[in-house]
Amino acid sequence: MTRLVYPLTEPTTGLFENNPDRTSVERFRFFHADEGKPLATPWQVALSRAIMLRQYQLPEGFILDCACGSGIQITAYSEILNLPVVGVELNESRARASAVNFRTVFTERGGTSLERLNDTVFVVGDGRNGDNIMATLTAAGNVTQNVAFLHLDPARPRNSRAHALTEMAPRLDEVFTGWKKHLNETQEGPAILLDLSPRISTNQMLEVEALVESFWPGLHKTWTWTSRGRGRIDRLALWVGCIAEPDFPRRFVRIPPDPTQPPFIMLGGEPITEASKAVRAVSANLKRGAYLSIVDSALVESGLVDEWLQTLSFGNEYVWLQTTGRRPIIYHQKRLENSAEERTNLIPISGRIVDFIDADLTLDSIDQFVEIALHHDIQRLTIRAEVAPDLQPKLQGSLDRQLVRRHGTKEGFIIKHPSQAQHLICIVD
Ligand SMILES: C[S@@+](CC[C@H](N)C(=O)[O-])C[C@H]1O[C@@H](n2cnc3c(N)ncnc32)[C@H](O)[C@@H]1O
Repeated sequence: MTRLVYPLTEPTTGLFENNPDRTSVERFRFFHADEGKPLATPWQVALSRAIMLRQYQLPEGFILDCACGSGIQITAYSEILNLPVVGVELNESRARASAVNFRTVFTERGGTSLERLNDTVFVVGDGRNGDNIMATLTAAGNVTQNVAFLHLDPARPRNSRAHALTEMAPRLDEVFTGWKKHLNETQEGPAILLDLSPRISTNQMLEVEALVESFWPGLHKTWTWTSRGRGRIDRLALWVGCIAEPDFPRRFVRIPPDPTQPPFIMLGGEPITEASKAVRAVSANLKRGAYLSIVDSALVESGLVDEWLQTLSFGNEYVWLQTTGRRPIIYHQKRLENSAEERTNLIPISGRIVDFIDADLTLDSIDQFVEIALHHDIQRLTIRAEVAPDLQPKLQGSLDRQLVRRHGTKEGFIIKHPSQAQHLICIVD
């Protein structure tokens, strides 16, 4: 069964889950149905992606999301590109929630294009079934053209470890089969964005590329890692065809905590290959007076980290001490001269090594850390080492209490030596 739902007329009856999206400046209250909330794209991510899409010349036609969930992403596209859109969703309540969410954003952002509101439609149906959906939309007078841009964010089983392509719902190959003949193209091919799990492996990325290649040979493809900070990748998407960057197989997008600020975007890198595993750690003889910097782990994951680091004041004069985990670390002899702004939060902290402590970080040993901090005129010492979550606040609290009463002036941090049973004390200068 295929049913059409319109933002202009859809009531909220029976829709319950209604939450403010804290990433939106406007604090939009979105409806989510049948536990759709964790699946939904945060508004800020959806918006920044729509803004990025605006720079590309799309073919003629309408914008389609064939697994639209709560409709957040497709609504952002409509707002930024100022076009009516079509969202397809198997789950009826979610399709209805999408229509209401579209209306909320349209109204609250002061939308004036009645054409955009009237012509936007959500389809309760199977997003793989291009022929059937096109026939329904055409019969209802909603579309007169083919698809300009296809967005696909398939659902993944919650407890999946494998993140196999066959577990995606709907499956990429089935969507491609269903829609290929309905996609308009430019000279660079169709415009397709595949929004995938950030946890897929390199081999699975290659599988996705091969699958796209089997339907549309020779298209450009740009993998895009999006992070909202704290080293976490929120989204890993493949931009295909006329929305890919011909010369760049990779892109890193860092969305700032302040939603009014533009994202940091970096293009570059090597194509994905089986061997492409970015950076390798070495074991170095760490010396007092040299520097340690923590690097954003999401940037490391994107494979673009070395290209970016080499634009900083120390050039390529650094080595990797640690490349995995939440806090990748580099070691360098020259001070990092770039301002916090230039570093765009991708190096959250950098400092000079002033001391080594041959001890674990525990409640029993904490006084030793305080003593050394005082010796180096440190007023605040932040733990940047892996510590059990229940112990961390106790240790940090103890450091803070003991240091605040003294007369230190400097800011320091503690890092665990990557290969020895030792901690390092660094000063930010
Ligand atoms: C990850 S969510 C999409 C979230 C969306 N991007 C947003 O911003 O809210 C994937 C959705 O695909 C839907 N789905 C799964 N199989 C489908 C199919 N064959 N056709 C249409 N929708 C499907 C699921 O019900 C789910 O809501």
